[in-house]
Amino acid sequence: MKIMVRADDGQVASVAARLIAEQVKARPGSVLGLATGRTMERVYAELVAIARAEAIDFSRCRSFNLDEYVGLPAGSVHSYRAYMEAHLFRHIDIRPENTMLPDGMAADLESEAARYDAAIREAGGIDLQLAGIGETGHIGFNEPLSPLASRTRAITLAPGTRRQNAGLFGGDVDAVPRRALTMGVGVILEARQVVLVATGAAKAAILARAVEGPVTSMISASALQFHANCLVIADEPAAAQL
Ligand code: GLP
Repeated sequence: MKIMVRADDGQVASVAARLIAEQVKARPGSVLGLATGRTMERVYAELVAIARAEAIDFSRCRSFNLDEYVGLPAGSVHSYRAYMEAHLFRHIDIRPENTMLPDGMAADLESEAARYDAAIREAGGIDLQLAGIGETGHIGFNEPLSPLASRTRAITLAPGTRRQNAGLFGGDVDAVPRRALTMGVGVILEARQVVLVATGAAKAAILARAVEGPVTSMISASALQFHANCLVIADEPAAAQL
């Protein structure tokens, strides 16, 4: 694991966006692993700005998002699909058919999860996986006790995660779905590069445990210590306990 500390979230977002842009320039057919959450809003804003300024061609890229809520109807503004459209997909020239998220409305979540893993494999695996960290230490939605070798599957969200994500549901915790489909920890570890982004003081304690504590299924982000090519980019408030 390499750790990079920058003064503030704006600088962190610039570094993360630059890494993605360079990945796509170097390999136009890149397979990107994407993430959601408030941290990523600035990363995507920066990436869109770079893509426009440098006319970056995403038309041959494919993307796989880490996760999606279960049970939100297709057009829901709260779905991660809607988030990705709003913050990234509609601003770059990635083809809609090349943007993949797990289908949280699938009748059979187990087969949907297996289909998603197979699609990642068929795409040749993920070149660069972007990830945030939840206050429970999750990556994707791999809540505490997710096996470190887990594959994509449905998971019940921890109460703390639903509270943390309520901000994106107008502050209404009850509106946050109770379940999600998430790429497993084992799937995330198979990406050729992982870029973990953490900003803000609320992430300081969990980031320190994930990066410097023992590897444990209680903190799925700690599994990234096993990854041969993982970069953690944190701002000073998030890095305060390292
Ligand atoms: C959600 C996502 C995670 C993300 C986390 C952090 O739980 N499923 O992938 O890392 O939010 O969110 P934020 O960036 O809003 O702190």
